[in-house]
Amino acid sequence: MSGDKKARYQALVEEIREHDVAYYVHAEPSISDRDYDKLYRELLDIEEKYPDWVYEDSPTQKVGGIPLKNFDQVAHVVPMLSLDNTYSRDELESFIERVVKGLAGEMPEFAIEPKVDGVAISIRYEQGKLVYAATRGDGRSGDNITENLRTLKQLPVSLRGAPDVLEVRGEVFMTHAGFLRLNQQREKEGLALFANARNATAGTLKLLDSKIVARRPLSIILYGTGEVSMGAISSQQQIWDMLADLKFPISEWTHLAKSRQEVQQAIEHLDEKRKSLAYPTDGAVIKINRFDLRESLGSTSKAPRWAIAYKYEAEQAETRVRDVTFQIGRTGVITPVAELEPVFVSGTTVSRATLHNFKEVSRKDIRVGDWVVIEKAGEIIPAVIEVRTERRSGDESKIETPETCPGCEGKLVQENVFLRCIDPACPSQLRRILQHFAHRGAMDIEGLGEAVVEQLVAQELVEKIDDIYELSLEQVEGLERMGKKSAQNLLIALNKSKEQPLWRLIFGLGIQHVGAGLARQLESAFADLDAIASADREQLAAVEDVGEVVAESIYQYFRNESNVKVIEALRESGLNFKSAAEVILDEEHSLIQGKKFVITGTLSQPRDTFKEKILAAGGKVSGSVSANTDYLLAGESAGSKLEKARQLGVVVLSEEQFENLAQGNAVV
Ligand code: IVH
Repeated sequence: MSGDKKARYQALVEEIREHDVAYYVHAEPSISDRDYDKLYRELLDIEEKYPDWVYEDSPTQKVGGIPLKNFDQVAHVVPMLSLDNTYSRDELESFIERVVKGLAGEMPEFAIEPKVDGVAISIRYEQGKLVYAATRGDGRSGDNITENLRTLKQLPVSLRGAPDVLEVRGEVFMTHAGFLRLNQQREKEGLALFANARNATAGTLKLLDSKIVARRPLSIILYGTGEVSMGAISSQQQIWDMLADLKFPISEWTHLAKSRQEVQQAIEHLDEKRKSLAYPTDGAVIKINRFDLRESLGSTSKAPRWAIAYKYEAEQAETRVRDVTFQIGRTGVITPVAELEPVFVSGTTVSRATLHNFKEVSRKDIRVGDWVVIEKAGEIIPAVIEVRTERRSGDESKIETPETCPGCEGKLVQENVFLRCIDPACPSQLRRILQHFAHRGAMDIEGLGEAVVEQLVAQELVEKIDDIYELSLEQVEGLERMGKKSAQNLLIALNKSKEQPLWRLIFGLGIQHVGAGLARQLESAFADLDAIASADREQLAAVEDVGEVVAESIYQYFRNESNVKVIEALRESGLNFKSAAEVILDEEHSLIQGKKFVITGTLSQPRDTFKEKILAAGGKVSGSVSANTDYLLAGESAGSKLEKARQLGVVVLSEEQFENLAQGNAVV
């Protein structure tokens, strides 16, 4: 058996390497992220079990494969300064005046660029080779994030014809489209959404595992230099030219302006242009072109006197609050949402804005019927900035903080600024809980989508999570737009989900603060769900990535009476509670134990021989194939049973595969 495992290990290493090349080198993924993660996880599991086998160049050992513990610090030889901001044309005029005065009355040429809304970065090359990349940090030293930046395909790792020492500086960001995709993906997986592209970028660059970074849509634009070997460049124009020659990505819009008027015109022009740029910008940067003139003006400790940022106003719009609705989250938090008269802001039509919580509603005194100013400053969810109280007619109605849950009329409690429904039977919460439990990133129950959940809850067929495992074919068939075939498929999907790895169940339970990543950590730290449930706070906090708050949340979850009931019911339904490591140890039994077999066709030995083997290993044998059948053992000339099994999606085993299974090898 260990020989088989070893062969599997080698095959996995090779396969993952090929996918890595396709992904990182050719930028053409040859497999879905999900399937890749499955293979990677399998590889990790084997390596954990057989540490002696681990190849030096296994995909898990490559730089970028091993999460770094902490970032080293890199000192910036040339400090990374910040920019002073201006918000009006007058302030910009005063800046130009200051500059002209500082240069004894001479009007310099200005170089103007978009101010990219991302994270500042410095990258050092020596003899044309990338040595390191660092964040700005405090301006004097920053985090060494070389491995994370290496995942950016547009960034050259070696340069031809570059100065011996060349530090280039620029901005890492996410395009609007990349950011949208990332958040859509996260939503599907039940993960917290990033509020805007800059947060997503900053969060990504801080990740210690560059493998995850590689899967995030980061881009980069270079616009400056740090330390450069003597005499190489003497103006911003030369920086642009050199960066372009060396094949660095640079801004597609740059401008040189010789007069005040040209500066103002360029800024106006950029304000139009930036609306069609693929990435977020929040201003223009105006720099003196010539370096000698820059030097004569110098810098303060924070910012240069030779450059300034002109910030564009975030787009605002006025609209009316038609209604305020209450959203009930899966943890029972009630969020007031303003339903707005649709209005066009920053490229999209906005018809809803979150009001965050009821304290915020009373602080801003927002009323139904009010005219409000909303703003979308790169955020996905627009904010209500202010209420136009002068436009009130007197017909506006105050928003009452609900006294009972709008979903179930149950009791509400105030927790900090949040109002929470604590009734575990609340149907609104149950809908959200079920959607989360079933979605792709958690238990992955195909066919149990929003519409089906909605009906199951409305018709009271499901009143707690575990009820989904008790559904009968008739009940499911009775739902709207549900054919016989889809009903059967749903039951099969439900059945299959019982075998899901433990982390999916942990994640699916919807414990506060426990995302998919943490669920995996919990699975690898404990033998089974019971061990997690009975762990004390210290044991939980000892798990990687689990802090005090999270440990408390997990601890409390398993001490809540209704949660305990749900867990017991899920155990009764036969869900897998064991962690992957334990399943491997146990696999000889678990692959047959509790499984329902049907035997058909001509086999090399009498059917009873197989039947005995199955029964001895704790399995069951029945005469007819149904949706509850786990495996059909099919010999030669199998007929209608085989047909039916195929229709129902039952796993069909050849005799050889069955023997494999009996030996404890999973059938693939
Ligand atoms: S020049 C000493 N140019 O804005 C000059 N900065 O508020 C420093 N930024 O830290 C920067 N686009 O992160 C420069 N075209 C651009 C920029 C830019 C964005 C960022 C950069 C800097 C911040 C200062």
